[in-house]
Amino acid sequence: SWTMENFIEYEIKKIREIVGDKNVICALSGGVDSSVVAALLHKAIGDQLYPIFVDTGLLRKGERESVEKTFREKFQMKNFRTVDASSLFLERLKGVTDPEKKRKIIGHTFIEVFEKAAKEIPNAHFLAQGTLYPDVIESVSVKGPSATIKSHHNVGGLPERLNFKLIEPLRELFKDEVRELGKELGLPEEIIKRQPFPGPGLAIRIVGEVKPEYIKILREADAIVLEEIKKAGLYDKIWQSFAVFLPVQTVGVMGDVRTYDYVIAIRAVESVDGMTADWVKLPYELLERISNRIINEVEGVNRVVYDITSKPPGTIEWE
Ligand code: XMP
Repeated sequence: SWTMENFIEYEIKKIREIVGDKNVICALSGGVDSSVVAALLHKAIGDQLYPIFVDTGLLRKGERESVEKTFREKFQMKNFRTVDASSLFLERLKGVTDPEKKRKIIGHTFIEVFEKAAKEIPNAHFLAQGTLYPDVIESVSVKGPSATIKSHHNVGGLPERLNFKLIEPLRELFKDEVRELGKELGLPEEIIKRQPFPGPGLAIRIVGEVKPEYIKILREADAIVLEEIKKAGLYDKIWQSFAVFLPVQTVGVMGDVRTYDYVIAIRAVESVDGMTADWVKLPYELLERISNRIINEVEGVNRVVYDITSKPPGTIEWE
């Protein structure tokens, strides 16, 4: 009968045959799919795998460190590399306010940075990608409205441009099977149970122009939201929960001093596939704790609001 162990064994054998003595690169994001691909490939071909992690400067607090720790230290991927391209991304996003333009800039810049890093890897003939069965289906069927409302950024188009052959070991799997596979491969719960995080990262959670000052505020506020939701035991029960930065200043009072600072919105939604979503009725006490902590701990914020919009009519992200 078919088991995860059989699957791993079979895939490893297949990967070794295909790859031979060539090298394989993959883009590691820290998400479930790319992490499982990297872990599986590493098990099959060891140091012939060159995982590339791009720091876009739009990641959440501690994300880069956690990815490096998992793959470089725990999994001992010797050829893991981080490319710090944060200044390039921020430079290109300067003055840009339109959400779709932001997405396009981030998508193009990502491909460019990845391509440059890939070219430096010797003997690389293959690109491993975490394409799942639903992605395969979606790409051959007519795109629904959701696909055109927001263009989702991925590394499509890369293999052709770099003349790489594709390796897609998850092509026949659904998400829950990928999680099971990840568990079998020894990936930490933190990665396997991670809530989805969009490719453009914090850029689409800052309304309008992305500025370093805004990223800093959002990153701190977001970390508090996640920490408190985890502490309350709700993280695994919620599809996505995060903070959004609003570049709007409002009047407040701190001690006897008038303040004029920014607004943070909290977003938490329940969903099955992200296509529709309900806002989560978080306990008032939890909202209170999050609000107090953000205002006390994050400089530049004096007001916290809770987004009570479902999808439709809202979208999950604010951009
Ligand atoms: P929306 O905001 O359209 O989001 O309701 C639905 C799901 O898609 C994610 N999302 C993105 N993911 N690139 C991504 O990789 C994007 O540009 C993007 N925009 C939205 C969002 O986080 C939610 O899970």
